[in-house]
Parts: sequence; C-alpha cells; structure tokens
Amino acid sequence: MSLYASLSTLPPDALLGLMTAYREDKRAEKFDLGVGVYKDEAGNTPILSAVKKAEARLIAAQDTKVYEGPRGNVDFCTHVEDFVFGAGAPARTEGRTLSFTAPGGCGALFAGTSLMRRMGTKKVWVSKPTWPNHPNVVRSLGLVVGEYRYADPETGTADRAAMIADLSQAAPGDGVIIQGPCHNPTGIDLTLEDWRALGAFARERGLAVMLDVAYHGFAGGLADDMAGVQAFLAEAGEGMVAYSCSKNFGLYRERAGCFMALGEAPEGIAAATTHVADIGRATWSMPPAHGAGIVATILGDKALRAEWETELTSMRERMISLRKALADALVERTGSNRLASLTTQNGMFSQLPITPEGAKKLREELGLYMPASGRINIAGLNMGDIPRVAEILATAL
Ligand SMILES: Cc1ncc(COP(=O)(O)O)c(C=O)c1O
Repeated sequence: MSLYASLSTLPPDALLGLMTAYREDKRAEKFDLGVGVYKDEAGNTPILSAVKKAEARLIAAQDTKVYEGPRGNVDFCTHVEDFVFGAGAPARTEGRTLSFTAPGGCGALFAGTSLMRRMGTKKVWVSKPTWPNHPNVVRSLGLVVGEYRYADPETGTADRAAMIADLSQAAPGDGVIIQGPCHNPTGIDLTLEDWRALGAFARERGLAVMLDVAYHGFAGGLADDMAGVQAFLAEAGEGMVAYSCSKNFGLYRERAGCFMALGEAPEGIAAATTHVADIGRATWSMPPAHGAGIVATILGDKALRAEWETELTSMRERMISLRKALADALVERTGSNRLASLTTQNGMFSQLPITPEGAKKLREELGLYMPASGRINIAGLNMGDIPRVAEILATAL
C-alpha cells in the first residue's frame, strides 16, 4: 500500500484554473477580471521604477548572503512600524511593540495565527466573505474558523452592527482577522468610527485581533489608510498586524511582509517576541532578505521614497478613475443606481451581485472572466474596455 494512499486529492484552486482558462482562450475578445494582481492601462504588472533602482543599489552594495537573523531586515521592520504605529509612538520606546520580517503578508498571517494558537486561541473569526487564504491558514493550524457578517450588500457599505452582533458570540481569547483597507473581495472598508467601536469592543471582550493590511496606499493614500488601523489599536490597547508589501511595492514574488504586535506591557511583548522567533525558526527558519531590502532602501532614501509615492499615487488614481467610469457605464446600462457604490469602495476588488451560474455564462459565452464569487479586479480593466465590459456585465446583473 502506498504511503500516500490516505490522501484524497484536493479540489484545484479555482482562481488558478481561471487564469489558465483565460490564457488558453483563443477568442479575439476576452477580458480578465479574475486576476489578483495590479495591472496598468496596458494590462502589464511592471516592476516599479523605484523598485528597479533600489534593487540595483542593493545588489551593488551586497557583499554577503549570510542570514540576517530571526527578525530579518531590522530597518525594514522599523519603517513598517513607522507606518503602522507612527514614528514617535511611545509604545515603541516603551518596548510594547514587536516586528518581524515575514515571507509576504501570508507569512505574517501565519506567524500571527500561530501566535494566537500558542496564546490558547481555539477559534479564529474571519469576515464573510473574505480572502480564501484566511480560513486556509486558520484551518492549516488546526483551529476552527468562525465567520462574522461584514457588509450590507444593499448599501454597499460595512455593517458594523452585524459584525458586532456576530462577534458577540466569540469567547474571550478567540482570534479575529479584520482587513485594513482595501477589503478583499468587497472593496468595502470600515469607517474611522467603525474602527474605534471595534477596538473598544475587542478590548472589552478580550479578543485577539489581527489586522491584515495588504493594500496600504491603495484606498485614500498612505496616511489616510492607516488612520483606521491606528484608531483601532488606540482603543483596543493590544493587537497584531500583518502587513504585505506585495501590492503597494509590486513585490509579489519577493515575499516581503511584516508581522507586528502591540501590547499593554513590555513583559507580554518580550515573551511574544520569543514565540514569534520560535514560530519563524520552525517554519521558514530565517525570513527572505531581498524584498525587505528593496523596501528598506526605498523608504530610507528621500528621492526613492518620493518616486515610490508618486508611483503608488498613480496606481491608486487609476483604480479610482476606473471605478468611476465602470460605475457610470453600469448605471447607464442597467438603469439602476445599485452599482454606484463601486465608487465608494476601494482598491482592486469589488464584488458584483452576479451568481456563480451568471459568472460561468459570462465566461463561456462572452469571454469575460471572473470567479464564481462575482469578485472583479478593477485593475484588470482599462478605460477603452469599459463600455464593452459594462455591456457584457449588464447581461448578468
Ligand atoms: C487580504 C489579503 N491579505 C494578505 C495578502 C497577502 O499577500 P502576500 O502573501 O502575497 O503578501 C493578500 C494578497 O492577495 C490579500 O488579498
């Protein structure tokens, strides 16, 4: 009997299947709204020019490939802490924060969920809907997934009352993953007031919350996008943050992320630091250096930083104009205002009220690719495509 006989075959990853089907589709007219990466007007995901320059500098200066240590690139960690906790935050000088370079946002999510497990967490709550890798990470660590309602599909805005009602069933010590801007897949973000209320709620209930920040700078800009996260942490007093540089620096394959935590007392953070180091040691041993090195080079250099911020702004503005153009075209085509909320949503993703059968039909009959969930990647569009894409989408709305 084979060693592997007890394994059943897992279903294929639906998004990867969609990407392959799109590539193999020979039709002259086809649209890919399923892809999970940022694309420019020409449909490419180029390397940012600030990244190219920082990478050249980094390679020229590098004289060893020796391990950097369990925290990875310490300058990188400091810069990301500047973003998340603020440059002069007293918690940092008081030893009440920790930060570790991680292999992408997923590595940071894995470290945080593993830390929750070591703190005694049995169940981790994720938004419904959420990015499918959240429940995947939770389950892979042997923890139970709970779901909280997140958005009101009618208004296209976050539904704090429903969130709090569902999270009221969480036990003290349960984990909760809340996405910072921009929520994947809905594009619907929490207001500052929501963040404050959730922070106070988490403190009162003793919940172990991890904020997942994977699109910093894609919603309203670097400072704006961190305001909610900071308001939450100020109210909650304690919490964890998983930060990804995959999208805002376009570093996808380099795996640059950062896991951070804030605590009320330095003793707790000192103990947590030893556990995060131990979790890293048992999994990736030492974090990857290249992507974090690029980010540290950019953020540590005035001119490169300004260049990156300009590139980030142009990505954000492109998505905002595409949202407006698509919303206008859909309102005109469908005669309904229902999808006007595309313009109040943020970032790459929005979820359209299209059924799995509708999505299949669009793909098979009209060459428009999107997952069964109805999630579309706004950045997969260009201005020229919008009238036709709106015409096709309207047939399923
Ligand atoms: C919600 C969310 N969290 C985290 C990530 C982390 O991605 P990565 O591990 O590639 O940095 C992503 C990427 O798609 C995401 O959408």
